[in-house]
Amino acid sequence: MMTDLTAQLLSWYDRHARVMPWRVSPQDRAEGVRPDPYRVWLSEVMLQQTTVAAVKDYFHRFTTRWPTVSALAAAEDAAVMGEWAGLGYYARARNLLKCARAVVAEHGGRFPETREGLLRLPGVGPYTASAIAAIAYDEPATVVDGNVERVMSRLHLVETPLPTAKLQLTELAARLTPRDRPGDYAQAVMDLGATICTPRSPACGICPWHHACAARQAGVQADLPRKAPKADKPIRRGTVWLGHRDGAILLERRPERGLLGGMLGLLGDGWDGAGGAAPAPADWQEVGEVRHTFTHFHLLLTVAVGRIEGAVQRGSWVPLAEFRPADLPTVMRKAWDLARASVVS
Ligand code: ADE
Repeated sequence: MMTDLTAQLLSWYDRHARVMPWRVSPQDRAEGVRPDPYRVWLSEVMLQQTTVAAVKDYFHRFTTRWPTVSALAAAEDAAVMGEWAGLGYYARARNLLKCARAVVAEHGGRFPETREGLLRLPGVGPYTASAIAAIAYDEPATVVDGNVERVMSRLHLVETPLPTAKLQLTELAARLTPRDRPGDYAQAVMDLGATICTPRSPACGICPWHHACAARQAGVQADLPRKAPKADKPIRRGTVWLGHRDGAILLERRPERGLLGGMLGLLGDGWDGAGGAAPAPADWQEVGEVRHTFTHFHLLLTVAVGRIEGAVQRGSWVPLAEFRPADLPTVMRKAWDLARASVVS
């Protein structure tokens, strides 16, 4: 059975679905075209904590270089971490590789076709499993991301703050999820949240759920969902050193676990919990300071540059001719941009 609300939203989606490189349009779906589960999975992992606009280029590069899950599974770790550089939340990239390799090793290169099966893959949590099951396989799984929480809290005037309201919002979303076209429905609610039911000034005048929206009737739509106040982020300080000599720079591949795990970086002094002193004696010159915000703290990072003559305690020499700044995570890229003039002259 499909509620009137669901039917109204699907009819809106038939006219207004956003075009995305991993998506099959509602018209093509109706003709029987199925989305590629690999592309759905990859896009959903990239879209966690990241906007559609930021993801598009990365998605294009990944799928050009690795068109199938088997191709991705066979990639070098460093190549995948390098392509991910700049997207943030690097645990996603490490899990991406683990998952691709599990799909190949344990499932013959085909993604499991149910939410239950998908949940057993490494790095695939309830959100991702529901999204892939709904979008790729039309299983009536309920997909709840931040957009859906916002839409449901407004439609049903839920005043309880997040995160307490999560379960209630999920139940409300589940009631609207249809057996027919659950994949289109999941994407329709996300599109509604991203284009009309936006956080600050929702465009209620053109919303397909305008007539039914309890928050709009009460005039509080822009105030929902309410959120429990977040603790202020602490400020951490640290130093990174860019050592150089004869056309090479000193970098390190960070340990798998922890912040920026598996990524390439300049050597640091332990602001990240990884520990460390200057990699060698040198005439270190401070060239400036970088600011960067992580999930749990703000970072003020002093950048020092020096020519190293003797042996180094840690790190590896990378010839500048082989160095691709784009392989660095954003904070390290900022540090490199400050330091480069002192190295390349
Ligand atoms: N955000 C996360 N997944 C999405 C999708 N499939 N469509 C639109 N926005 C999304």
